[in-house]
Amino acid sequence: MTNTGTHTILIIDADPSSRSYLATALTSSQYDVLVAASGREGLVLAWQNLPAIIVVDPILPDMGSSELVAKLRHDRRTQAVPCIAIASGIHQEAVNSLLEAGFTEFLDKSSQTVDRLLALIPRILSNQVQRNAGGIVIAFLSAKGGTGTSSLCANLANITAAQSPNNSLVVVDLVLPIGSIADLAGQSARETNLAAATTRLSNTPNASFIQDNLLKAPRWNFWLLPGTPDPQTANTLEVARIPELLAVLRDSFDFVFVDLGRSLSHFSMAVLTCAEVVVPILSADAITASHTRTVLDFLTKQGVEGQRFHPILNRAVGLEGLTRSQVEEKIGRPIQHTIPYMGGNFTVANNQCEPLAGKFPTDAATLALQQAARNIVDLGRQLREK
Ligand SMILES: Nc1ncnc2c1ncn2[C@@H]1O[C@H](COP(=O)(O)OP(=O)(O)OP(=O)(O)O)[C@@H](O)[C@H]1O
Ligand SMILES: [Mg+2]
Repeated sequence: MTNTGTHTILIIDADPSSRSYLATALTSSQYDVLVAASGREGLVLAWQNLPAIIVVDPILPDMGSSELVAKLRHDRRTQAVPCIAIASGIHQEAVNSLLEAGFTEFLDKSSQTVDRLLALIPRILSNQVQRNAGGIVIAFLSAKGGTGTSSLCANLANITAAQSPNNSLVVVDLVLPIGSIADLAGQSARETNLAAATTRLSNTPNASFIQDNLLKAPRWNFWLLPGTPDPQTANTLEVARIPELLAVLRDSFDFVFVDLGRSLSHFSMAVLTCAEVVVPILSADAITASHTRTVLDFLTKQGVEGQRFHPILNRAVGLEGLTRSQVEEKIGRPIQHTIPYMGGNFTVANNQCEPLAGKFPTDAATLALQQAARNIVDLGRQLREK
């Protein structure tokens, strides 16, 4: 297994023999290794040395593993550092609670643990996209389908492009297996799409990569990387290269709007942990609200700070449903904007592949989206400066 040799791995393990066994294996794979025999010692080493990855045996003498990972997640220096738990004889429920507590991965202790760990580390490292470099990333997601995530992502991108004419903007459709933003923008995803882009990444210079792999959506004023048009194409996607692709896009654009849809996966986590702003789109029903809370709580444990969340309540299906404050209570966080129900006009604009701001410039939904776009961009810029 090859690696860069410059990453530091911290091992927190109370057992001297397994600690030194792991340390020897990682050192001979050219990692710099730090070891700690207790949670407290581990925290001090983590905060002083900022390791790339922390490997933990969750049975510690001085604190529970949930307490340890919560402390790591609540400190700015280590909030996004991947933590791998390695333990033996642990049942699925306990594995789930380790992952819920904030661990990134779990490995069962066995004769293959070291091999698995050495395979896992480069994969995790390649998924780490640096925050605070290049364009501002705004990620849209939902906990349930049909809340208007793709329509809002595309329309907020269109409005942002109009409000910031000197900035370049790309929309990336990461919804698998069939993206929908190309259809909204009246483009074809057949030739140019996410899967094709990942296979063509190589060492192509950025400028020609953009020309060859992205579409310009004329009426929408943004560049577009369409999602895959069908499951067959989705199967050709080189998932491991998505972080690299995102890095190229951030180098080339001032804003990168990403539609993640409703599925959380390894690659969507790579986007969410580097996004300046995460925009959950909710509809006004109890199930969506409760699922959204589950997703946001999970992201918080994974190191995405609450200040990055900018939830939008979209009344996509009519006036009925929960009130804004009922939704806020259910998700345990404030809703930043409510987009009113637009009746059939929204679907008319979508069917005609027109941005709302062009077709219905004075509609209350358009005005609410314009305000939301301003606030999202302000938040992204503000968090970038930190
Ligand atoms: N505020 C609104 N008023 C009226 N109709 C809306 C509103 N928001 C969205 N819609 C309609 O809701 C439908 C679903 O929108 P969209 O495809 O963007 O949802 P989605 O969350 O991306 O769905 P999926 O989970 O399938 O990806 C569209 O037909 C759109 O026109
Ligand atoms: Mg969608």
